[in-house]
Order: sequence, then structure tokens, then C-alpha cells
Amino acid sequence: MLDAHYTPPEIARKMLLELPLDFSPNTVADFACGDGALLLEAANRWPSSQLIANDIDTKLIKRLQRKHGNWITSTADFVSETSLKRSKIYPLQRSVDCILINPPFSEKGKARLTSSFFGSEVTTGSTMAFLLRALQFLAPNGYMVAILPDSCFISDRDKLAWSNIKSHFSVRKVLSNSRSTFKGIAASTTVAVLRYRQHNDFPLAKEKSEVATDIEIVRGKLQMHTVEKWRSENGFPLVHTSNLVKNKIDLKEICIVNYKHVIRGPAVLIPRVGLVTRDKIAILPRHKSVVMSDCVLAVKCETNNHAKVLTDVLFAHWDVFRTAYGGTGAPYTTLERINEVVSYCINANLDSQNHRKAA
Ligand SMILES: C[S@@+](CC[C@H](N)C(=O)[O-])C[C@H]1O[C@@H](n2cnc3c(N)ncnc32)[C@H](O)[C@@H]1O
Repeated sequence: MLDAHYTPPEIARKMLLELPLDFSPNTVADFACGDGALLLEAANRWPSSQLIANDIDTKLIKRLQRKHGNWITSTADFVSETSLKRSKIYPLQRSVDCILINPPFSEKGKARLTSSFFGSEVTTGSTMAFLLRALQFLAPNGYMVAILPDSCFISDRDKLAWSNIKSHFSVRKVLSNSRSTFKGIAASTTVAVLRYRQHNDFPLAKEKSEVATDIEIVRGKLQMHTVEKWRSENGFPLVHTSNLVKNKIDLKEICIVNYKHVIRGPAVLIPRVGLVTRDKIAILPRHKSVVMSDCVLAVKCETNNHAKVLTDVLFAHWDVFRTAYGGTGAPYTTLERINEVVSYCINANLDSQNHRKAA
């Protein structure tokens, strides 16, 4: 068994949460799939995707074949061109929508490897060789989520490879895992999301203003009458308007398991339905994941600090903000209306900042 340090399910779940909620890949691959931990999580989230499992260990692959007859399976040595060329995954280059990898990362006693990457030859450690090869399978619109040892990000050995990668792909580090995350190995690791640069839709750092002006507001989807259907001990805490109390998210016992409904901080949560009061505005901190009822909205933010600043901005323009809510019966707002009003508040705040600077 080579580097059989399998990803714990909770890490696999967190990795997938880093992908946009509306991302729905036709194909999902893991080229060092082990016992399939990452692919199983993908199968939960995207039941109709075609899963592709490769591992050099034939016993593992046979076991997966028996369990999941509809997966495409292969036993290529992923860093050997000769072995890959003989495999059925070779023709899939530049076509896989979602690649999940936790490549073998022990470098002890392993020779450096030379890979060809976008026409350049690069010599690297074996983890990086795996990553370079895997990137060649990514579809132009696809996402890769990779767990890599921290050493891979900082070693001189892989410096040139990173510079080559970054000229073609955006690399967003999203999670840090402690040294005890993987059984049998003490290595701190980082999860990164990679995409082709021309499709980079990650928010750019907003340096000019304290608050982003291109806001994204999402509406919760869980209908309260379906709670029992989705209730699970292993799910995510449910946030309904009644849980927004004194500017805090007052979580109760109810947990919901349904990926489609999960929202991840940082964000500012606001009620969509009901009387809006200041104490109903609450921050969902970074890395915290919840399921929102369809009566709750989230304004997504880049950092906890942005969320805090945005909250202050809304309070500063409260009379305007309140106008987003109308209706003949119980007050409610719409995504369109709240978008207009929040944008207005942000712009008004920027104007007054500029005014102060100019004065
Ligand atoms: C760290 S485990 C990851 C398993 C799985 N992706 C997960 O996250 O649980 C690494 C896997 O890489 C496989 N492996 C090692 N060298 C390989 C190679 N050259 N080609 C393909 N798979 C390899 C091992 O058999 C092992 O199952």
C-alpha cells in the first residue's frame, strides 16, 4: 500500500463546500483514489455525475469496481507516461469537470521527476509531478480541489513548477489541516482550489474600498415544512429567521443534510420574510457552514472583516435598508430589491468616505 493516508469524510465534505453551489460537473475524477473517500462524497453531492477512479493499487480498484459498477476505473501509474498511455483515462485529458486529489505525498527516498507542462520541462518532487499531471486533465471550465502537504507549497524543489502553474491557473488556498488529520502520517496540509485563469471567477482582493461593491446575495432554499425529510445528526445547523437573535445566529438542535442548501461563511445573514429589525442582522463567520431556510438571505463576503463592515454600513443607512421590505400582508423582500438596496447602501458609504478624504 503506497501512501494510503485516506481523507477523513469531514475533510472531503469541507473540500466540496469550497465549490460553487450551482457547480454541477458531468465528470468527477480522483487519480489516486485509494478507497474512494473523495469520490464517495462527490457521489453524495452530485448523484448523476460520472465518477472516474484511478489508483495504482489494483486490489483497491477491484474492490471499488465491485461496489460501484457504474464508475470508470483504471489502475494506471499516474506519473508514468507509458502506463497512462495504456490506460482508459488517457483520452480524458482537458475534459474532466471536477478533479479531487489527495496525491501520495511522502517524498522520502523518491527520485525527482521531470514532467512536461504546457510545453516546459520541470523537475519536481513526486507530489508536484502528480499535481502537474492531474492539471492536464482539467476541463477549461473545471475545478480542481487538491490536498497538498504544506512542504509542497514552500519547497525550493517545486518553486519553478508553482510559477508555471500560476501562469495558467488561479490557486486559492482554502483550508489548513493540522498534522494529525491523516492517520499514520504527521504532515500539515492545505486544501487549494485551482482553475484555469481565463475562467477565474474568484473575487479579487478589494483594496480600494473596505467593502466589495459587486455583491452576491443568495436565498436560502430549505422550506420549513420539509425539515423532517432532511433532518440528520450529521448535517449542518439550520438557520431560520427565528434563529437570528440579537445580531447572533442562535443555533438550535436541528441539523439538515442536503448539500444544495448549505451556505458557508463569511456572510451577513438577513431575514427575507417578516419584520426586519437591526437585531436580525447577523454574521456567519468564515468556515462556518449552515443550511438556511427559504426565509433567510445571505450577502456573501470575502472576509469576516468585510462582513463586519457591511453590517455597520447597513446600520448606518438603516432607513434606506428598511425600504427593501414591503408587501400587503407580512413584510418581505425579494432578491432583486435587496440587491438594489444593499448596493445603494454600499455606494452611499463609499461616496461619504471619498467625500471625507477629499475634504
Ligand atoms: C494519500 S492516498 C489518497 C487516497 C484518496 N484519494 C483519499 O483522499 O482518501 C494516495 C493514494 O495514491 C495511490 N498512489 C500512489 N502512487 C500512485 C501512482 N503513481 N499512481 C496512482 N496512484 C498512486 C496510493 O495507492 C493511495 O491509494
